Amino acid sequence: MHKIALLGTGLIGRFYTMSLLNFRGKDEIKVVCAVTPIEAKTFADEFNIPRWTDDIAVAIRDPEIDTVIVGLPNHLHKKAVLLAVEAGKAVLCTKPLATSGSEALEMLESVEKAGVYHGYLEDLVYTPKTLKALEATHKGALGKVLWARSRESHGGPHSDWFWTKELSGGGAIMDMGCHCIEIARNFIGKASRPIEVTCWADTQVHPIEVEDHAVGLVRYDNGAIGQFEVSWTFRGGMDLRDEVSGTEGTVWLNHWLRTGFELFTNVGQGGYVAEKAEGDTGWLFPVGDEVGALGYVAMFMDMFNSMDAGKAPKETFYDGYIVNTIIDACYKAAETKRWEPIEIQKWRSDGLASKSETVFKDYDNEHYLIKEERMPNGNLKIILKNKHTGEISQKIKE
Ligand SMILES: NC(=O)c1ccc[n+]([C@@H]2O[C@H](COP(=O)([O-])OP(=O)(O)OC[C@H]3O[C@@H](n4cnc5c(N)ncnc54)[C@H](O)[C@@H]3O)[C@@H](O)[C@H]2O)c1
Repeated sequence: MHKIALLGTGLIGRFYTMSLLNFRGKDEIKVVCAVTPIEAKTFADEFNIPRWTDDIAVAIRDPEIDTVIVGLPNHLHKKAVLLAVEAGKAVLCTKPLATSGSEALEMLESVEKAGVYHGYLEDLVYTPKTLKALEATHKGALGKVLWARSRESHGGPHSDWFWTKELSGGGAIMDMGCHCIEIARNFIGKASRPIEVTCWADTQVHPIEVEDHAVGLVRYDNGAIGQFEVSWTFRGGMDLRDEVSGTEGTVWLNHWLRTGFELFTNVGQGGYVAEKAEGDTGWLFPVGDEVGALGYVAMFMDMFNSMDAGKAPKETFYDGYIVNTIIDACYKAAETKRWEPIEIQKWRSDGLASKSETVFKDYDNEHYLIKEERMPNGNLKIILKNKHTGEISQKIKE
């Protein structure tokens, strides 16, 4: 059983609490922290949490707690993590881990040096659909993954600090690119090293300093490509989609607007529909179990079960650090309009990246098989390449 200090009682604090209260039946939030005492107290009263404070250090040093969950604006993650390390408490931090790769590295080194348990709260790799898709992918259902595309777009975030560069560290790439990058990395395989990026980013709609729209490509050392598409300009709710294709298969995941639950109402259904829904009349796309569908429940199961088992969770500060280094390169590439290298100072790999793996298929000793297709007339067309001469030819089987 863990006793938790929850830092931040905003959108993510609420989702985390809703997940934790129904989680394992063992863990308890003992203290919450928000920017004002009234916000902290109101939240504590709502969820029967015994103590509340507006002081991050007081919450972390609370003698009863053993685990700190950081759900604060991005610029406060490092401060909270370093205080947790100083207090010797396990620390679970929301995404993005930090506002830059160098800040993330400092946080990673700090938890590792102190030997405190750490988890990176990247919920979107824990959605029930993603977990199943990842399992199938890792068992080889897609063959070698070639392209992992992930999209998160909506009309923009719900609090002022997201829109302010000094507090958020960046716009849509920082806020949502972090999800998409880590989703792609999970499908492509964490043993593959991300090498370089190219990225388009712009501020198309909002009067802000940071980007509200971006598309980027992340190239991995095994030849795979991760593609992210993030926007704070999208209208119609929150579009959360992943598409992964490999040499033997494809997976498409739609997490939010098309989940199989569609409701039409001319008069409204009384308020909140789903995160980032734009209204409550007309065609609506509610979500049956938001905290489950977004991965929070499975994520906390992994975080706490792994802690109890004395092993690392699926997502650690190391993963958060890698994501931050990729984001740094994206910002650079968006400015230079070139491919930019990803500067990873602490790359860890067991050397499994499949750089030299060939994906060519033999047809016979003389030929590679390029493609087979059944044509409208019923014939089978077979496209071949001669291994010695390089000649491309076709055979037709009736
Ligand atoms: N899917 C996800 O994993 C997900 C979703 C949303 C947000 N987040 C992340 O969670 C973090 C918080 O985002 P949010 O949407 O909950 O923001 P929010 O604006 O809804 O809430 C922020 C919370 O932090 C508190 N806070 C701010 N400054 C503070 C201070 N100095 N001391 C103590 N408390 C302070 C506020 O009182 C509030 O409770 C961000 O890092 C964001 O990226 C993650």
